[in-house]
Amino acid sequence: MDWKVYQQKTQNRNPSKLLEEALQYVNGKNALDFGAGALADSRYLLNKGFSVTALDSTAMTSLESPRFVHAITPFEKYIFIPHSFDLIHGRLSFPFVPSKYFNEVWNGIRSSLKHGGIITGEFFGPKDTWTQLSISEQDVYALFVGFEILKFEAREYDKEDSQGRMKHWHVFSLIARK
Ligand SMILES: C[S@@+](CC[C@H](N)C(=O)[O-])C[C@H]1O[C@@H](n2cnc3c(N)ncnc32)[C@H](O)[C@@H]1O
Repeated sequence: MDWKVYQQKTQNRNPSKLLEEALQYVNGKNALDFGAGALADSRYLLNKGFSVTALDSTAMTSLESPRFVHAITPFEKYIFIPHSFDLIHGRLSFPFVPSKYFNEVWNGIRSSLKHGGIITGEFFGPKDTWTQLSISEQDVYALFVGFEILKFEAREYDKEDSQGRMKHWHVFSLIARK
């Protein structure tokens, strides 16, 4: 995947509907946009009054705000500070953590969320065209042991990706509270 091209194609995308839905559960205003891409959701969160850390190894654009930090670094090199975020949002991004670092990064994500904080985002299922990134429904649940699941939705459909290529989507969307 060429992330520069991806980010160019998605820079005018609407905020994530899942993120909009998740905000009703969030107390506090410190957010991590995990795999922030072209920053559509970071911009949305800033407009909602959040302080936002946008984590991504590729950055085609940035945002001007004293409440914005752009962490331009690979997921696996980011230093997660325990109990620092009220919200961690990973729109289509958690599956792109390199598999050999996934457990370590996931532990960092879990620990950096404050008690009562919200994680939201998507995972790809076994029937997704990007199969190398897929995990099963049970695997997703296992990642959230100890969390309260506020939403879990599995969907399958055919639709073009952001670069106009037809793709079979098998997506698990999730909102969970620590
Ligand atoms: C599918 S895109 C999602 C971007 C954004 N959340 C959105 O929905 O538009 C995945 C993002 O993860 C970033 N990414 C992929 N591998 C990464 C890694 N190892 N470390 C940090 N960022 C990575 C890419 O640059 C890309 O912006």
